[in-house]
Formats: sequence, structure tokens, C-alpha cells
Amino acid sequence: MNLALAAPAGAPIGDPLTRAISGDARFGAGRGELAALLLATEPLRPETCVLDAAQRFLETRHAGLLSLPVVAPDGRPVGMISRYELMRMFLQPYGRELYGRRPIAVLMDRAPLVLSLASSIDEAARAIASHVRSPITDDFVLVDERGYAGTGLVLDVLHAVESRLAERSHELERAYARLKSSQSQLVQSEKMASLGQMVAGLVHEINTPLGYVRNNVEMTRVALGDAARLVSAQQAVIDAVTGEGEPGDQLDALIAEIGQLRVTVDPAALDDLCGLLDDTVHGIGQIGELVLNLKDFSRLDQAGMQKADINRLVESALRIVAHVLRKRDIEVVLKLGEIPPLDCAPAQINQVLLNLLGNAAQAIEHNHGRIVVATRMLDRRAIVMIEDNGKGIEASNLPRIFDPFFTTKPIGQGSGMGLSISHQIVDQHGGVIRVSSKPGVGTRFLVVLPLGPDGADA
Ligand SMILES: Nc1ncnc2c1ncn2[C@@H]1O[C@H](COP(=O)(O)OP(=O)(O)OP(=O)(O)O)[C@@H](O)[C@H]1O
Ligand SMILES: [Mg+2]
Repeated sequence: MNLALAAPAGAPIGDPLTRAISGDARFGAGRGELAALLLATEPLRPETCVLDAAQRFLETRHAGLLSLPVVAPDGRPVGMISRYELMRMFLQPYGRELYGRRPIAVLMDRAPLVLSLASSIDEAARAIASHVRSPITDDFVLVDERGYAGTGLVLDVLHAVESRLAERSHELERAYARLKSSQSQLVQSEKMASLGQMVAGLVHEINTPLGYVRNNVEMTRVALGDAARLVSAQQAVIDAVTGEGEPGDQLDALIAEIGQLRVTVDPAALDDLCGLLDDTVHGIGQIGELVLNLKDFSRLDQAGMQKADINRLVESALRIVAHVLRKRDIEVVLKLGEIPPLDCAPAQINQVLLNLLGNAAQAIEHNHGRIVVATRMLDRRAIVMIEDNGKGIEASNLPRIFDPFFTTKPIGQGSGMGLSISHQIVDQHGGVIRVSSKPGVGTRFLVVLPLGPDGADA
């Protein structure tokens, strides 16, 4: 602290003060904020008589002072005399006669507030607060390393504190505004992050139907190419036989070609094409629906809620992945229980089932395996179980599989969004999704959905 109080009332004058002024480093710190409040008040001497001191208070230049400093000839402030004290004395019977000619030292406050010019406003305010009495009758003395420097007004310190408070409240306001703007930036970047997550999710969801649509179109193209060649070879034979086309010596070659083509173009396979095209149309419909979702930035919400038969949804999802499973020699065991229609967004439940079936198929590493899909009712809730005998999930990964972007698949193969989206969808339906897994043995997912709003709290 850069301030010192003079000796307490009654103590020999000067001791702490002398120390403070002459030797204490706190007082040699140069001019501080208080210097701006310094008034070069001409001090009284201890021997100045009371009447002369009172006269000095009447001078215009001292009109604003509550008290005058009393300073020894060596420059040490030794006290302070206040107007209040003089008035009290003059109001006493014979006060003027009794005290008028006596030295001011008999009436002065011997422990005035003495502050260093190096003090800050805050330090001065603290010292004033601990020193001040009511009513406020005194100002304070200012000293520097040489001793008395002048006086300061308590009122000036109060003004300085007030304007500093105003400045700080302005600073606070500015800091608050900055905080608010950085907060809104944070909210904005948070929004962008979740937007990114949503877009990544949509891309993932579009990728699944896109995969089987591409697969189906590819298969259709191969089958139709062979069929087209068969039809044109047959036409050429008809033309040759009726004499409208090439000469008859090519007939044998054409018949041989037809024989070969008939092996590859199986009429039953052509019938299958209709099923493939149905699935393709379904997939394109799904892509369209997802794009609509993207269009209005809607999350995977409850839009499209209706009564649906969960078993039909399971069958439709299985149809969609059937080609992939068949190609990889993965057997599907289907056990459907009796389940009444439930309230859900069928397109979204379909997404969940496709994600789980896709994961199950990917977990089966060798081109041989089994997926069990079963449904059943329990306490007004529908349960769908999807179980595979794939590679399983490491215990350390189990708590993370529903996190967005968590994947153990190589870059380019998995985005890690499938289960996070599925979890979100099931959650929005008031249901739960559970997993149990044993590495090297397989994984079982359970999707539990309430039949309707009443079932949600079952
Ligand atoms: N049936 C399962 N068998 C083994 N591991 C699984 C199975 N299902 C999920 N996982 C593990 O959970 C992780 C996260 O699955 P999720 O479906 O969220 O993402 P992904 O399949 O890796 O990628 P994406 O689905 O985006 O293509 C997978 O990488 C895998 O490690
Ligand atoms: Mg997945």
C-alpha cells in the first residue's frame, strides 16, 4: 500500500510519519494518480493561533476545504484542523476568549489521514473508507518523499472513483458485447457442425439405396443385353428361313449362337428383373424422400407418421438387401411374430433396418454366414432382433458405436453415421436400440418400438 496514516491520536507526533516520509520505499515510488488531485494548500504552523487559523478558513481560496493542514517547519505534517472543530469551539461559552489566542496544536487532529502522492485512487478510496467519520469533517494530507506536498479533497476522490466506476461499467458493457458476439459465433459454428453432421448423415442414407439401385441397374443391363442379342439372332434366323435376310449358309452359325444365348438368358431370370426394377423404383423413391429432407434442412423428424406393419417393413428391407446377401452366400433366417400395426414413420424405420442389415452383412467377413431377423411383441412394444455371426465388436468399442463418425471400417468404406442416425430415429419414436456382441461369435441388435403413444411409457 502506498499510504500511511499518521500516529494514532494521543501518540507522539511524527514517528510513523517520519519513517514513512524519510525512509519507506512505499513513499518514494513517484507520483501516482493522487497527484492529479493535489491542491497546493498553504499549511498552518503548529504555533499559528486559533483565531488566525479561523481567518484562513474565511479566505476564498480555502472555501472548498473542510480542513487545513498543520505542518512542522521541517516539512512533516503534524495534524489537521477542521472548520467543524473551530465552529464547535466558537459555539462554546467563552470559546473564542478561552482558545482564540492559543496555538492551533491544542485543537488539531493529531492523526489526520496522510496519503502518498504515489497512491492510486483505489488505495486512497480504501484508506478514506476506513478512516472517515460521520459527519465528514476532514480532507487529507498529501506527502511525497520530501514531506508535505499539499492537500486532497475527499469529494475529489469520490468523483474520481465514480468516473472510474462508470469507465469500468463501460468496459464491462463492451466485454459483455464482445462475449455475446463470440457466443453467437460459437452458436453459429455449433449450428454449422450439426449441419455438417446432418449432411453427412443424409449422404450416408442416400448412399445405401444408391448402392443397390446401381447394382440392380447393372444386373438389368447385363440381362437385357443378352436378351437383346438372343432376340436379334432369332430374328436373323426367321429372316434367313423366309428368304428375306442373309443367305442360308449362315443359318447354322446363327442357330449355334441362339443355342449358346439360351443358356444365359433364362426366362425365370427375366422374371426376376421385374422384382429388381421394383426395388430400384423403391430405392429411387427413398433417395427422393431424403433429398426432400435436405431441401428444408429438416432433421430426421416425425414427418410421415402413420400406422405400419413392422413385419412388412422388415420384409421390404430384406428384399432390398437380398441381392447383396445372396451374392455373398449369406443365409437369412426370418422369424416373424404377430405384431399389430404401430405408429411410426415407415421410411425412417426402413432406414434403421437397412443400416442394421448392412452392418450385419459387412461384419460377416468371409463369403459365408447367417443373419437371423426376428420380430415379436412384448408389453405393447414391438421388438425387432437382427443377429449376425460376424466378427463381433470389441468391448472397448461397444460404448462408442452410436457416436457420430465412429467407424472401424477403412477410409472410404464407412462414414460411421449409420448407427448414430438409427439411434436418433429410434429415439424420436420413443423407442430404444440395444446391442450385445462377442468378438469372433457375432452381434445382436434389438430395436424396441412402442406400438403407439400409449405404449411409449410401458
Ligand atoms: N453387426 C455388427 N458387427 C460388428 N461390428 C459392428 C456391427 N454393427 C456396427 N458395428 C461397429 O460399429 C461401427 C459403427 O457402425 P455404423 O453403422 O455407425 O458405421 P459404419 O458401418 O462403420 O459406417 P457407415 O454405416 O456410415 O457406412 C462399425 O464401424 C463397426 O465397427
Ligand atoms: Mg453402418
